[in-house]
Amino acid sequence: MELTIEQLKEKINEYKKKLSVKVVAHHYQRDEVFGIADITGDSLELAIKTKEDDSEFVVFCGVGFMGQSVKILSPNKRVVMPKAACCAMAKMIDGMQFDASIKALNDSGVTSENILPITYINSNADVKAKVGQMGGMVCTSSNAKKIITTALKEGKKILFVPDRCLGQNIANQMGLKSCVIGDGTNPADADIICFNGFCSVHQLFTVDDISFYRKKYPGILIAVHPECDPAICDAADFVGSTSQLINFITELPQDQKVAVGTEFNMVNRLRPKNTYVLSSTKPECPTMNETTLKDVYDVLKSIDEGEPLNEIQIDANTQKWAKIALERMLAL
Ligand code: 13P
Ligand code: SF4
Repeated sequence: MELTIEQLKEKINEYKKKLSVKVVAHHYQRDEVFGIADITGDSLELAIKTKEDDSEFVVFCGVGFMGQSVKILSPNKRVVMPKAACCAMAKMIDGMQFDASIKALNDSGVTSENILPITYINSNADVKAKVGQMGGMVCTSSNAKKIITTALKEGKKILFVPDRCLGQNIANQMGLKSCVIGDGTNPADADIICFNGFCSVHQLFTVDDISFYRKKYPGILIAVHPECDPAICDAADFVGSTSQLINFITELPQDQKVAVGTEFNMVNRLRPKNTYVLSSTKPECPTMNETTLKDVYDVLKSIDEGEPLNEIQIDANTQKWAKIALERMLAL
């Protein structure tokens, strides 16, 4: 017989008491999964808070690159994913495509010695390792500007992967010149050269959506994630990571209306009133939504039975270089 939601929650809590385990969930998880988590946050906070915790197992409710980041920073922990979900943006680049991008830049006259790669944390371990090997580092949506400011001090061109929108948004904020590989611009003329990756969920928000809300509710604020297109970020009142958005919105006066451009589950939990989703289409991240309470229960049961499901494994060389790239970011 299938267990009800309440029964699943009860059993999950029993396993949490019995096992040396922490359930970790990103803000985009479904409400019922988010509600049973011990640690929640944006991708940077999850990697840091989990590193500081001493449980043997981490049950990571999110997407693959986030679970990998925990494993890379805390190699002695055993990280299991209730669902082997993968971020669609992270999947847009692998190690071979990273090498091909370097070659394309070399062919257009930008030498490897003159390139400092930065990878958004939304990338797989092999890409982080390539970046680490070239002297580069990782950034997240909450610290991208700081990381790029520091990186530029080396006097090199930044190759930013995989999110073209985040790369272009930071370049716009800093008054720098950016291009996207293959857009016809000579990379030698740009300060930040972006790989052509993107998040399809954040591409749903349009300038028309912003005009619609501004017209309908004069005085409304628009708050968006930096994975949105530069035209959206330029027209918004606030741009920030998931946790930065939460802090900004929860501190607004109760009667201040706000329309938010990021994933639905998170926006829906924010405030009981005066908060709108900045799109007529429900912006759900399909892979974030895959994880269910039943999956969390199944994975805890598998740990208890001594055969953990979906355990993250990373080969030693990838682990070493990806850790260097992540730790360069944390050092800042
Ligand atoms: P944050 O780092 O802001 O949590 O974002 C992760 C993400 O995947 C947004 O789409
Ligand atoms: Fe990846 Fe976009 Fe989903 Fe974030 S919302 S996990 S970037 S696919």
